[in-house]
Amino acid sequence: MALVLSGGKVVSAASVFQADVRVENGLIDNVGLDAARAGDEITDVSGKFILPGGIDAHTHFDLPLGDGTRTADDFPSGTKAAAAGGTTCVIDYATQFRGESLGRGLANWHELADGRSFCDYAFHLALTDWNASVAGELPAVIEAGVTSFKMYMAYKGSLQVDDGVLYNVMTELKKTGGLLCVHCENGDITAARSLELLGAGKKQPEYHPVSRPEELEEEAVGRLLVISGLAGAPVYVVHVSSARSMKKILEARSYGQTVFAETCPQYLYLDDSLYSPRNADAAKYICSPPLRDKKNHAGLWEALSKNLVDVVATDHCSFNFKGQKDMQADFTKIPNGLPGVQSRMLLLYLGVSRGRITLPQMTRLASENPARIFGLYPGKGSIIPGADADMTILDPDGKTLITAKNHFQNVDYTPYEGWEVPCAIESVYLRGKRIFHRGSFTTDRPLGRFIRRNATVLQN
Ligand code: URP
Ligand code: ZN
Ligand code: ZN
Repeated sequence: MALVLSGGKVVSAASVFQADVRVENGLIDNVGLDAARAGDEITDVSGKFILPGGIDAHTHFDLPLGDGTRTADDFPSGTKAAAAGGTTCVIDYATQFRGESLGRGLANWHELADGRSFCDYAFHLALTDWNASVAGELPAVIEAGVTSFKMYMAYKGSLQVDDGVLYNVMTELKKTGGLLCVHCENGDITAARSLELLGAGKKQPEYHPVSRPEELEEEAVGRLLVISGLAGAPVYVVHVSSARSMKKILEARSYGQTVFAETCPQYLYLDDSLYSPRNADAAKYICSPPLRDKKNHAGLWEALSKNLVDVVATDHCSFNFKGQKDMQADFTKIPNGLPGVQSRMLLLYLGVSRGRITLPQMTRLASENPARIFGLYPGKGSIIPGADADMTILDPDGKTLITAKNHFQNVDYTPYEGWEVPCAIESVYLRGKRIFHRGSFTTDRPLGRFIRRNATVLQN
């Protein structure tokens, strides 16, 4: 039987308009006034916004750190939290660790996610070991629906790759059609500064941002963009944390380069005062790049409002405060990353309610742009006929208290504890099935599917 959501306002990347949404066989069938037909099941969503399901293009679920530590959220808990927060698809960073083939890395992530996910999922593949045999695997990986890759300019000694490798990978991806996502921080200087700080007995969390200041991100962004310019390949800069890094991106775009920019709620709302020695919980906020001086917020919001940032993702990489983040001998040993997959849509709407961005802009940042950039469009990212019926019904008259007391994230804190957001996620539909309604899941079954992405990125 077809389902019709009636009486709500549909949000597209361009506008907000009154329309019914008719759903049949898990797909959007029709969007328009009086879309219902005889025998359809009608659900009244008067007064609510019908948003395309969120797409979180940057998560790390079930990520091992190599020292026995694993992220607190795995695919079951991470995707459940995503769905409860209005996100119907995540793109998680599968990782090829040193010595592994790309096939092995991907197979590992399928084992973790398949049949265990509550929302749909796709994978980027992080490359940490580049050689001729790995290069030879790229076409098969892209054929398997994994069309974006990641490399790290930071994390010396573990994930970091050098500039020559970045250049070679971009050159190769230009031939095969994949997109490279890059973590930009100068890992060599971060490592040197960390040793310098530790040598001076400066071990507390407050020294984490000192070891990796804004300049080191700005420098790495600039270097990356020289490399991608010479390779003639597009590039996607993950988790841009500062206004000066954004400037570098704008400069490269002014030369005609294709550069996508992603930021995250933590860089829009939280700041480095949280690392203060007076904050006993400072370790909770250790992530890389670190939280920045508050002055960056205005610049990043302005970039969002001018459509200069393409995507807001979370970089959800959760570790418990008790037993994981709080147990370390010095700041370099604190596992990096923050939880946030459940609160992204709420925090974007908070920006809408404060007049920072419009609702169509929120939809672009949260759903349509990630779908277009990463080859999920038009199957996902927008409420248009033929697309998957992934929808988030948002109640602008509701309220949500963000708290670890009742979140679905399997981690003992949220960086946004006690924040009240002026909206509520009323329901979430995954391919036409309502999976979440007013605070509870309506199914126990992990219905999420792996989404093979298109070989062509940048579908404008
Ligand atoms: O601190 C962070 N961001 N941890 C997750 C891994 C990464 O760098 O994206
Ligand atoms: Zn990163
Ligand atoms: Zn990340």
